[in-house]
Amino acid sequence: MSIHKEVKKVTTHVLLEMKSSGEKISMLTAYDYTMAKIVDHAGIDVILVGDSASNVMAGHETTLPITLDQMIYHASSVVRAVDRALIVVDLPFGSYQGNSKEALNTAIRIMKESGAHAVKLEGGSEVTESIQRILTAGIPVMGHLGLTPQSIYKFGTYNVRAKEELEAKKLVEDAHALEKAGCFALVLEKIPAKLAEKVAKEMIIPVIGIGAGGGVDGQVLVFHDMVGLNNEFNPRFLRRYLNLYDDIKGAVGNYIKDVKSKDFPNSNEQY
Ligand code: KIV
Repeated sequence: MSIHKEVKKVTTHVLLEMKSSGEKISMLTAYDYTMAKIVDHAGIDVILVGDSASNVMAGHETTLPITLDQMIYHASSVVRAVDRALIVVDLPFGSYQGNSKEALNTAIRIMKESGAHAVKLEGGSEVTESIQRILTAGIPVMGHLGLTPQSIYKFGTYNVRAKEELEAKKLVEDAHALEKAGCFALVLEKIPAKLAEKVAKEMIIPVIGIGAGGGVDGQVLVFHDMVGLNNEFNPRFLRRYLNLYDDIKGAVGNYIKDVKSKDFPNSNEQY
């Protein structure tokens, strides 16, 4: 029996049940009311209000510039649209790394001002104190390891992480530390599939991958990439389900043509 079909509202406990029954978890990003409504009605399990909004909504090169107020704006738009999915919101760069009190205050602002259900933050053992402090306020926390885009200037590239033994060993240790600290789930981004599978097997909590192969407990993609709104981003892990860039460009081109030729509006399209 599919938990997905039975459940009216996805909670962190439902995700744990999905993992233990072998049902894969589906997760996508959303940043606004209209798209979040479609994604929720389609039956997605988890919606991530990702700090990738910095890239795909605001046009920044990295996720670093997006502010806490901007994340709350996106998250509250998503919350107004969604009935079923669990809504997780990224803590933006610079809003939690200072100390655990800062992390708690940021998480509380997100929960109070947006109405979301959980937060996500990047990092391993260095953020476990913050995770524990956020949990004291009853706020569920999702971890994020591997390619953590907020550290892009440390990495220097968006290449696959943890290919070397030392980094792979640290990633496994960090994953265990995050589970021990109380995370309800973990995102693994752009790491070798075998390593991701090993982590997922060792964890009780669900491991959700992006560019981490099929041996994990669920998959996440950035919505704009998945529907082909962005035709400049072509990583190997991305499967495009639509080509909306071309479709929308074509539709806008047709509209321009109709306006210029005075074909639009016709006599039925006016009062
Ligand atoms: O911000 C985001 O979209 C993310 C996903 C890539 C996991 O963190």
